[in-house]
Amino acid sequence: MSTRSIADQRWNWWPLLPLYPYGRRRTLVRELIPDQLWSFEQLQGVFYVAVPIRMTVARVPGGLMLYAPVPPTREVLQALRDLEQRHGPVRSIVLPTASGLEHKLPVPAMARAFPQAEVWVTPGQWSFPVPLPLRWLGFPAGRTRVLGEDGTPHSDALQWISLGPIDLGLGRFQELACLHRASGALLLTDALVAINAEPPELFDLDPTPLLFHARERGDQPLQDSPELRLRGWQRLALFASYLRPAALEVPQLGTLLQQAFRPGCRNARSYFGLYPFHWGSSSAEAFAELQPKAGCLRVAPVLERLVFPRTQGLIVAWLRQLARLEDLRWVVPAHYDAPVPCSAERLEALAGELEQRQWAPSEGNWAYLARIDQLLLRLGVVPEQPEAG
Ligand SMILES: [Fe+2]
Repeated sequence: MSTRSIADQRWNWWPLLPLYPYGRRRTLVRELIPDQLWSFEQLQGVFYVAVPIRMTVARVPGGLMLYAPVPPTREVLQALRDLEQRHGPVRSIVLPTASGLEHKLPVPAMARAFPQAEVWVTPGQWSFPVPLPLRWLGFPAGRTRVLGEDGTPHSDALQWISLGPIDLGLGRFQELACLHRASGALLLTDALVAINAEPPELFDLDPTPLLFHARERGDQPLQDSPELRLRGWQRLALFASYLRPAALEVPQLGTLLQQAFRPGCRNARSYFGLYPFHWGSSSAEAFAELQPKAGCLRVAPVLERLVFPRTQGLIVAWLRQLARLEDLRWVVPAHYDAPVPCSAERLEALAGELEQRQWAPSEGNWAYLARIDQLLLRLGVVPEQPEAG
């Protein structure tokens, strides 16, 4: 994959959601379950806080299904054409979330690349700040269907399970999980994650975000070693999970500018030495709290504190519903590690654990998320008692 040209990785629609790595998207393609499931991973984030985002390709009767598409660069399309040669055409493209903008924006371009495929979307799609019809956003009117309302694709091979809808005030949260019976894999979007204990393989293509965050100060040049990559990864995961973890201090503007533009840092790769972060205590300890054991599923903190803070019962009931699925062996979320080994017992245990521990805390690493939630409540943007549909 490293021999790919920049042109193969170009994504010209990046200004719609201007996230790192902007116009160049490297893609890691992995076979997750032989001849059944494939993962297409890209990086996405803000100011080098970049975490993997995944499209899962599943084999279905007569061809392939794309679940939660990523931007279809030439590199992505070439890999998909190779899979089509072996397993048949892309028959359906699925947008499994009502709210996840990062999963929604690539759909129209992917639909144009596969004009014979049906496009299936989660009901209740919304756009902010202005509600726009799907047609205006580039979804093809003649072949776009709504999951549930217009049936479901490949019902003989797949089972669909909804989480939500939950009223968020601005719009709604809903996610459609999909059990791929042939592999025993449950495909998910954002609700559950297993945060990689080691830097994900995707960073082998470009470790810059890890090296950037592994530093202590802006005037340190970017250096590379396995230890630095691990430290950078732990910090990235903490950023992405808590937005502003407790161990993080933002230096004064004067200090920030003093450390900027130093020799060795006068380049775009190190943002000219601008580095508005200071880690007061060990990021390794905070990471161990975030993901105590490798390969364990958890509700992402941002979701727990900002989307589900008052709907714990709904999440627990959903986990128990998933635990009743027959032959469940894997979970494949759209972020972080995959495939994650899974079973009914593990999901039951997670449901029990969520009932036992304090839900949506406000202390320590959670304090910043809690402040946002409290502010939104005060402004009346989010409801006190969200209605579950
Ligand atoms: Fe997502």
